[in-house]
Amino acid sequence: MNIVHISVEMAPIAKVGGLGDVVTSLSRAVQELNHHVDIILPKYDCLNHGKVKDFEFNRSFSWGGTEIKVWHGKVEGLSVYFLEPQNRFFSRGCIYGCSNDAERFGFFCHAALEFLLQGGFHPDIIHCHDWSSAPVSWLFKDHYMHYGLSKARVVFTIHNLEFGAHSIGKAMTYSDKATTVSHTYSKEIAGNPIIAPHLHKFHGIINGIDPDIWDPYNDKFIPVSYASENVVEGKRAAKRALQERLGLKREDLPLVGIITRLTHQKGIHLIKHAIWRALERGGQVVLLGSAPDPRIQNDFVNLANHWHSSKADRARLCLTYDEPLSHLIYAGADFILVPSIFEPCGLTQLIAMRYGSIAVVRKTGGLNDTVFDVDHDKERAKAQGLEPNGFNFDGADDAGVDYALNRAISAWYENRDWFNSLCKTVMEQDWSWNRPALDYMELYHAARKLS
Ligand code: ADP
Ligand code: GLC
Repeated sequence: MNIVHISVEMAPIAKVGGLGDVVTSLSRAVQELNHHVDIILPKYDCLNHGKVKDFEFNRSFSWGGTEIKVWHGKVEGLSVYFLEPQNRFFSRGCIYGCSNDAERFGFFCHAALEFLLQGGFHPDIIHCHDWSSAPVSWLFKDHYMHYGLSKARVVFTIHNLEFGAHSIGKAMTYSDKATTVSHTYSKEIAGNPIIAPHLHKFHGIINGIDPDIWDPYNDKFIPVSYASENVVEGKRAAKRALQERLGLKREDLPLVGIITRLTHQKGIHLIKHAIWRALERGGQVVLLGSAPDPRIQNDFVNLANHWHSSKADRARLCLTYDEPLSHLIYAGADFILVPSIFEPCGLTQLIAMRYGSIAVVRKTGGLNDTVFDVDHDKERAKAQGLEPNGFNFDGADDAGVDYALNRAISAWYENRDWFNSLCKTVMEQDWSWNRPALDYMELYHAARKLS
């Protein structure tokens, strides 16, 4: 099958969050199943060019009164076409945040379809994502399906319903199939008026992570390679390196890591409380996060100043985006905390498990589908063929965080053998795309059968 993703993010060259990870890792998994995948992306000035191989000029075409140059390259083994409109729509800002984002991305979607048409492509599936490439669905139905691309079917994935509801609603109407990124989130949003009329074509498919990109056995950002057999030694070395790098006390204390965009979605007030609680319980805390909203960023700068002066050897708040540091935290932390208010899927808990770190999460969306509490979810885990693998809580208040974090930290202090075996267990669970990629293939096949 020929699949084309039209997306405004792609890890690791143009990533803001999990959408970028998913476009790359789902495509790699589908390609490994012997299907042909192309990705179409804007050619941002801020692209991480170092990670693009065999980059070359492909062609140019005119559309909308503008010449569009097309470049081709390979990213993580995937074929990527980069569109560079000469109106310089993508030379300012980086990915999101321009006042005319809707116009720029609408233009990009139109240009991408025009490129497929003029370039003589014959995709079976055109897969678009979130509000930013939602216009593909209606542009296709209005025009392109009648001209040369008639064989294609459009699949639309909602990664986050919070942004661009109007565009998402339209894409729900015009796409042939629609998905969101976990079963629980699909149920949580099923009653939303823009989703409810389309439940017949709407599916929840959990995200995976790419086990080659996130691999503690082969990770240049951590000091000692490890697999589940030597998880204790590997994580001990990573914790030391992390403490040393951030100037924390080099002692074996329970270390809580938080890696996140700092937005309302991620449970800001719960994060603040958890930092306090973990320190109060004698732990260390490392937070890696950045806030698109300057007020929230400022707030965390103040919080960082507070903790860096009062608990200098036990708390470090790194208020930036830093991919290499994230690897070291995933490996060096004992716990990764994800107290989201809502979470369509969440990748950080999955990456944490791949590195043998224990997820402490709020029970919502994809966090509910992937983290099974060691005390409460034995049956639920068993139904998935899994052992319980973490700690969770329900309420969106301090008491909820305390409930999960206290049990987690106590287990670390009081029962290290059991805790270490839990680290081994989570490392051995398969949160790759092995299963979800097959679900997507089934969906693609079903979409193709639609007349
Ligand atoms: P979302 O897409 O809502 O931000 P996900 O959990 O799906 O949340 O994906 C977040 C991705 O971004 C993960 O790969 C995570 O490691 C990464 N990430 C988040 N914040 C940072 C940061 N400050 N530095 C490096 N990586 C980050
Ligand atoms: C969104 C969601 C996140 C999900 C990611 C990838 O950014 O917030 O939960 O994991 O998309 O699908």
